[in-house]
Amino acid sequence: MQLLLRQSSFSSEFVDRVAACAETVFASASSDRGEMLWRLEHMPDAVVHYAEEDDRLIGFKIAYATRSRRLYSWLGGVLPDYRRRGVGKALMDFQHAWAKERGYLNVETGTIRNNVPMMMLNLSCGFEIIGTYARAGKPRVLLSKRL
Ligand SMILES: CC(C)(COP(=O)(O)OP(=O)(O)OC[C@H]1O[C@@H](n2cnc3c(N)ncnc32)[C@H](O)[C@@H]1OP(=O)(O)O)[C@@H](O)C(=O)NCCC(=O)NCCS
Repeated sequence: MQLLLRQSSFSSEFVDRVAACAETVFASASSDRGEMLWRLEHMPDAVVHYAEEDDRLIGFKIAYATRSRRLYSWLGGVLPDYRRRGVGKALMDFQHAWAKERGYLNVETGTIRNNVPMMMLNLSCGFEIIGTYARAGKPRVLLSKRL
């Protein structure tokens, strides 16, 4: 497995690859390519950390800044066939090391309350729950990690 990152040069081909991965991971509105492209093009310091195996994009994390020193990890996932092999954790460690190096002090993320895999991964990587909120009627949990 190879860990890679891309910033600012989000070619259409690259966005297609990430969106295709997201579609398999989520099969839901979260995988909307248009929304993904908009955030990559418009949100500050947008970055994609991703993993490849045999040239296949098997997992990704998209993040951007919400304050000068705060990174928000918006969307991420690993293809079902590649789960529980440490890819999600490797991507998170990679993203956090990059963020720290870049001067960020905190990473925040949100997840639906009953997403056990994501919650377990977040907590095992040092996130703490700092609040709850609801979006589209679904309770969500806000998590933060000091880098
Ligand atoms: C959450 C997700 C990214 C984890 O990816 P992964 O590559 O399988 O995770 P890892 O193998 O690195 O797991 C690291 C740790 O996370 C926890 N974890 C991961 N999947 C878990 C599960 N299904 N149940 C319980 N704990 C889990 C464990 O603590 C695990 O460590 P362990 O394997 O030593 O027990 C993956 O399940 C996924 O893509 N889910 C769908 C997408 C999603 O919900 N994204 C969040 C919304 S943006």
